[in-house]
Amino acid sequence: MDVEALKAEAGIAACTYVTSGMKVGLGTGSTVKYTILELGRRVREDGLDIVGVPTSLATELLAKEQGIALCELDELEGLDVVIDGTDEFDPDFQLIKGGGAALLREKIVAQSSAKMVVVADDRKKVQCLGAFPLPIEVTPFSYGTTLKAIQEKLGCEANIRQGEDGPLVTDNGNFIIDAQTGPTIRNPAHTEAALLHIAGVVQVGLFTNMCDVVILAGADGVSVLEKEDTS
Ligand code: A5P
Repeated sequence: MDVEALKAEAGIAACTYVTSGMKVGLGTGSTVKYTILELGRRVREDGLDIVGVPTSLATELLAKEQGIALCELDELEGLDVVIDGTDEFDPDFQLIKGGGAALLREKIVAQSSAKMVVVADDRKKVQCLGAFPLPIEVTPFSYGTTLKAIQEKLGCEANIRQGEDGPLVTDNGNFIIDAQTGPTIRNPAHTEAALLHIAGVVQVGLFTNMCDVVILAGADGVSVLEKEDTS
């Protein structure tokens, strides 16, 4: 099966977590795109009644095109569920996100959601996070100083992500630094906290202790992986 078909399977399967009356966080990326398309279809054809909160301008545009009602997170008392993609997930359901530069809004929305459902194809499953370069959102102000501090803290190469015309600018007017840690992030919460200590760091693409469910599509079909409740 090609990767696009796996993305579609995972994205569509996640829609079972959405029912009428829910407030739904809408993630960003090429996998959750299929979730948004399916939710739009259900809104138009089945009368699904939901309100969505998008995690990027791209998702906002797509959701509007699909006829999904949207509002600001600030207008709601939290969300029932967020469905989003990931760049990697480990056996503890810790995530690297931000490949699409939407990590800040994604994390704000995920923190406000009662449940986080992640949609992924089986390339995203890893034993140890970090083969995917870790995205870190930073202020444009003195980003060179922030870059050096990140490199020193992590002891690895890091680069400013480039757009078409210089550094890529996020929806929030910031830059992204990608850190080449390699698959060495054994304590994601520790790494996240250490990076957040650097003043120019706005947010880190490590989503720790947030993900509850992974909908994983592979050659053998779709599996639903649920995090054990340890509380
Ligand atoms: C956006 O910034 C990211 O966090 C995406 O959710 C992540 O990169 C997964 O995207 P794909 O589903 O396109 O791989």
